[in-house]
This record gives sequence, C-alpha cells and structure tokens, in this order.
Amino acid sequence: MNKIDIVKKIVMENKKVPLDKVGEAFMPTNIALCKYWGKRDVELNLPVTASLSIALPKKGTDTKIKLLDSEEDADIIYLNEKKVNKSHVFYKRISEFLNLFRVNNKSFHVDTVSNIPVAAGLASSASGFAALVGALNDLFDWRLTLDKQSVLARLGSGSAARSFWSGFVFLNKGIKSDGMDCFAESIECNWKELKIGLLMLDNSEKYISSRKAMNISVDTCPFYKVWPETVDSAIEKTFKAIESKDFTLLGETAEKNAMAMHSIMLSSYPAIDYSIDKTHLERKKVWELRKNGVEVYFTQDAGPNIKLLFLEKDFEKVKEAFPEMEEIDLFFSMN
Ligand code: PMV
Repeated sequence: MNKIDIVKKIVMENKKVPLDKVGEAFMPTNIALCKYWGKRDVELNLPVTASLSIALPKKGTDTKIKLLDSEEDADIIYLNEKKVNKSHVFYKRISEFLNLFRVNNKSFHVDTVSNIPVAAGLASSASGFAALVGALNDLFDWRLTLDKQSVLARLGSGSAARSFWSGFVFLNKGIKSDGMDCFAESIECNWKELKIGLLMLDNSEKYISSRKAMNISVDTCPFYKVWPETVDSAIEKTFKAIESKDFTLLGETAEKNAMAMHSIMLSSYPAIDYSIDKTHLERKKVWELRKNGVEVYFTQDAGPNIKLLFLEKDFEKVKEAFPEMEEIDLFFSMN
C-alpha cells in the first residue's frame, strides 16, 4: 500500500478548479503530552502507539494554495514571505507531498506563513501539513470530514494528524494496514486554568529530523520494546487526568513520558540527543521549583526547547523563575 492508494480512497474525484481560485486554511500546532515515537509503517507514517496532544490555538500555520498554469514546470513555494529554493529540504517535503494531489500534472503556488520556528521541535510540520491539507480541501472543494483530513495530513507528518482541533486531541494508532483507522479526534474538555509556557532556548533547525531519528530508535534502541506499554499507560492516565482535571496526574504523566522518550533516544545508536546545556538547566529549575512547592512540569519534543505545564494560579511564581517564558492560552476558540 502506498500513499497514492490512500489518497485515491479518500479523494474520489477532483472537480475543475479555476486558476484564480485560492484555497486557504489555518491550523494550530500541537504539543504531545503522550508522544508518538516510532512507526509501524514507514511509508504511511503509521505509528507504533496512539498519542495525545494539546493544541496551541494561536500558534500555527496559515497556508494559501492555487494552481499554476501548465507552462510552469515546478511548484512555487513561499515560507514566511520568502521564496524557498528548490534544493531546500522544506521545498522537497512540500513538493513531494503535493505530488499526491496533482491534477493533469499541474504545479501549485503555495504561500505558507508560520508563527513558530520551522523544524525546531515545536511541531511546525504538524501545523504545516495540516494547514496544507486544509488549504487543498478548500481549493478542490473536497468537503472532507476532519478525520479524513487527519488521515491525509498524517501522510505528510505523523503529528500533523492531530493538528485539526483546539484543546486535547487523541490520535488512534489504528490496526488496519491502510491506516484508514489511524486518525485523530478531539477530546471534549475546557480546562481554562491549564497553561503552557514556551521556553525557546534555541530556534535553529534540528540536526536530525524526527522522521529519521524515530526509525533509528525503533531499529537500535534496546529498550524500545517497553515504549508501547509505557505510552499506553500514559494515555490511560492522561484521559483520567483530563476527565477529573487532575493537574498533578496530567503533569507527572506528561513529564515522565517526555523523559522516557528522550531516554529511548539517548540509548539508540547513533544516540539522538536534541538537548543543549540550557535544556538540562531549565529541567533542573523545574524540579527545584517543584521541591519548593510550585507545581510545574515540563515536556520536550524533538528539539532543545522546553514546554512548561502549570496552573493559572501559579503563573506569577513560574514567570518569576522563567522570565523569558511565553505564556500560551490553551482554551480559546479557533473560530
Ligand atoms: O510528526 P513528526 O514526524 O514531526 O514527529 C513528532 C515527534 C514528536 O514531536 C517528538 C512527538 C509527537 O508526538 O509530536
């Protein structure tokens, strides 16, 4: 089964689109509290485990797309108002993804604006591929449900499947070989007191893509076999925590899961280490703060940056310890 087969299952026919029509979508980025790390199908980005995330509603990607005249021989891609060179990895990823949706071999003009640093472990590819699918859906007037769009976005990046909703989102791992049951869904909960603080320690591009890195972990980490049960148990606890608004359970589970993922990375070969010195210092500050009675936890993805989890009542104390932190409103409507 390849990606084209999946697209054909979802997008039955493409209606004729006028050249001046622009498709547009904004999608928020998401931070996994129970991480996806490892694929059961590398081609279709099917995960070994389910995952669970929270959206950062105002952080994300806005993408506009239109068809180009047939004389144009290649896609034209703009990122944050700058034309992206064809040799750039960003261009290649987008253009290869667009190959799945070409009509009469026509090229696309893509204009994408992201208010998060690209490829710095802040899930820019999640909102990026989700917004691209949303924009294509708009351009071709497919009128796909969000679970179908979630399946399509997953073909670009696993975490993108979770970027169509605000609030908490659960990505089913699915069991089907075509991945049609591997899509995300929103978890109903409005937890206004819950806050995330972003600690941007370094926004340069990651030295190894999460795509490559997770394959290395699956192939070489001697502890990878405990990862699926670790995530299953974290997901169960996180669901309980969300249901009962139990912040201690939510924070502890998220931090443990992030540390377990980074331990898997460190014990892969070659070892994968996304942390920098500042990452270690900031984690220790979190532990110190907790010892002193301030309930704050962290999570970390495929990059050195830290995301703090805390409750609104502790905002002043957390801000005092981390003055450079950017506070994110989580429960806020996207529309
Ligand atoms: O979707 P990818 O290929 O960018 O991988 C995401 C990996 C993590 O961010 C580390 C975990 C996650 O679930 O988002």
